[in-house]
Amino acid sequence: MTGDWTAILIIMTEKPGKILRTLLLGTILATFSLPSEAAPPDVAPAGSQPSALSDLMIRLQFQHIKLWFAGRLNNWSLATYEAQQIDASLKTTSKPSPGGADANRAIEKLQAVREAIQSLDVSAFTQAYSALTNECNGCHRANGYASITIQVPVNSPFPDQLFTDQVADGRALANASCGGCHVVSDGAKDTPASGFPAPRFVEISKRASFSADGLRQYLMSGHRRLGPDQAMPNPRLADYQIEAIVAYFEALRAGGAR
Ligand code: HEC
Ligand code: HEC
Repeated sequence: MTGDWTAILIIMTEKPGKILRTLLLGTILATFSLPSEAAPPDVAPAGSQPSALSDLMIRLQFQHIKLWFAGRLNNWSLATYEAQQIDASLKTTSKPSPGGADANRAIEKLQAVREAIQSLDVSAFTQAYSALTNECNGCHRANGYASITIQVPVNSPFPDQLFTDQVADGRALANASCGGCHVVSDGAKDTPASGFPAPRFVEISKRASFSADGLRQYLMSGHRRLGPDQAMPNPRLADYQIEAIVAYFEALRAGGAR
């Protein structure tokens, strides 16, 4: 009975809003129909479904972790992407309970993180990220979920994802080790330092015959000299360097790595 009244009250007080808000009613109801002294709100009734909000929060948790590693490793384009994801997640988080903290404060803290990303400033990023993390916990505590404590991540739980910027690493390596003979970037007026007659990287990357595997094999060769005319000394790269060069060539081919 109490539950029904709560539902009606919420429907009357909520502005017509996003679909998620409707979904959230379920959560709010579940929270409200619990006897408040007997059980803390973060214990869901036995057999209940995980709420839409908790699903959203788990997604937010992943984005929060990825944002950290991207920023710490100077992968600013990935950090920008994850910050956008977090922004979208926070904007779909409506007020978890009447009178509880809403997501606006967290969105403000995220704004500082985004500014740090834009100015490529790792120490500002670290500070703003901590403030955002504190705000995650602030909202949890304000809504009766004090036991859900978020911290700055220690290890990445994503062994299948590289958080460094492989294309940027490949570009830097290419400029340092290949730029003496090849034109590395796509700039029309660039000339290789030595005037050595080697094909431009953008030209190689746009060849119909180009493939990432072909390039890998070429660079993995144990021969002292490489190329159709054996005119290139083997640069003897480590595997991770080869992968970075391959990533850079693929980005050049796609036109996204000037
Ligand atoms: C607007 C308030 C609010 C903000 C801001 C917020 N949370 Fe939550 N969070 C909640 C509520 C409420 C729950 C409990 C949801 C439930 O179980 O229905 C929760 C639950 C969680 C959970 C537990 C989910 C589970 O099922 O295990 C995690 C993890 C989490 N939040 C992470 C975060 C992170 C990371 C941030 C900051 C980037 C954050 N939250 C910011 C309100 C918030
Ligand atoms: C000392 C000069 C020199 C350096 C340094 C050099 N290259 Fe080359 N590279 C050449 C020359 C010359 C050719 C043309 C080879 C031929 O036709 O035999 C070539 C050709 C290539 C080709 C095309 C091969 C083909 O199938 O046509 C690739 C790919 C390549 N280089 C990649 C690299 C990468 C990556 C680096 C840096 C890690 C690098 N090169 C460093 C001189 C150089």
